[in-house]
Amino acid sequence: MQACHVALIGATGAVGREILQVLEEREFPLRDITLLASARSEGTRLEFRGHHRAVRLLTKEALTGVDIAIFAADVETSRDYASHAVAAGAVVIDCSGAFRHDPQVPLCVPEVNALPPHQGMVATPHSLTVQTVLALAPLHTAASLKRVVIATYQAVSGMGREAMEEFDQQLRDLLNFRAVQTGAFPHQLAFNCVPQCGDFLDNGYTSEEMALVDELRRILAVPALPITATAVRVPLMHSHGAAVCVETARPLSPDAARDILASAPGLQVEDDTKRLSYPLPVHANGQDAVFVGRIRADQSVPYGLHLWIVADNLRKGAALNVVQVAERLLAS
Ligand SMILES: NC(=O)c1ccc[n+]([C@@H]2O[C@H](COP(=O)([O-])OP(=O)(O)OC[C@H]3O[C@@H](n4cnc5c(N)ncnc54)[C@H](OP(=O)(O)O)[C@@H]3O)[C@@H](O)[C@H]2O)c1
Repeated sequence: MQACHVALIGATGAVGREILQVLEEREFPLRDITLLASARSEGTRLEFRGHHRAVRLLTKEALTGVDIAIFAADVETSRDYASHAVAAGAVVIDCSGAFRHDPQVPLCVPEVNALPPHQGMVATPHSLTVQTVLALAPLHTAASLKRVVIATYQAVSGMGREAMEEFDQQLRDLLNFRAVQTGAFPHQLAFNCVPQCGDFLDNGYTSEEMALVDELRRILAVPALPITATAVRVPLMHSHGAAVCVETARPLSPDAARDILASAPGLQVEDDTKRLSYPLPVHANGQDAVFVGRIRADQSVPYGLHLWIVADNLRKGAALNVVQVAERLLAS
């Protein structure tokens, strides 16, 4: 692979720091790397490959001479700067959600949909979409999905650094009999569960529930697939869980599904209830794989399966997926 110059926008954030780690671990061929963020962290030094590098302020000029610009900041930053990066000759990989619904911008999970032709921009999905689609895609190929019902158990790091700090503070306050402050969360999250991820929409769903529905349909290329989701924030720092019920058009036994999932790329089946073996967020933390277990027949429908899917949201849910897309770009 040809070495390239990468700009990482949002380098100081939860996803940005994980991307740096994945680039380092996978020995991504780099000629140079430029770390960018807002004025809040200009000058912050981040360690990469044994050297400390200063974070620079994101400006249009900072995007010149860049081959791949990875946007891991907020939606507004991507909307304001991604087109400048493309105009300056870079390919943008955006994980902010700004372009996930744009039909001109491919939405890519490399194990599921090969990187299609693009016009300088590729988007990566919501972390829950990544882990769910990795399991749904092979089941769809085998038995054709008819309906999908999802309940998510989403960790705090899915909301970024500020929410992680608030959660940490809430835990400390509660354990010290102090009142809990809320800012990033709508309610106390420590020792609680909150059935709201994102903002409420007119249809009664939240923005993250609808993102999951829309992105799954798009990546599976089944625009009318009936999917419904309830997204819940749980008091865990890392790794999302998803309880998924699928109805299929053709019969698929749990054993056959287990075999299919065990040989699907990016997945690891952990499903031996006799040994109390099933995916756990604490085991998924820091891991590349998406873990699937509790695979069983749904007794309430003719052809249905239940699955429990867990993955580190910062890892395959965000950073690893981004770096795999970058690797595909270089290879092509
Ligand atoms: N967390 C996840 O599991 C996950 C998964 C998939 C996708 N995503 C998406 O990835 C993006 C980053 O998420 P995160 O969790 O890493 O958030 P985060 O921890 O809040 O980090 C945000 C990053 O964006 C930077 N930033 C904010 N405003 C900026 C501006 N005006 N100009 C330049 N940089 C700016 C911040 O820099 P400062 O240090 O200067 O504030 C920080 O580096 C979000 O769009 C999120 O939706 C997150």
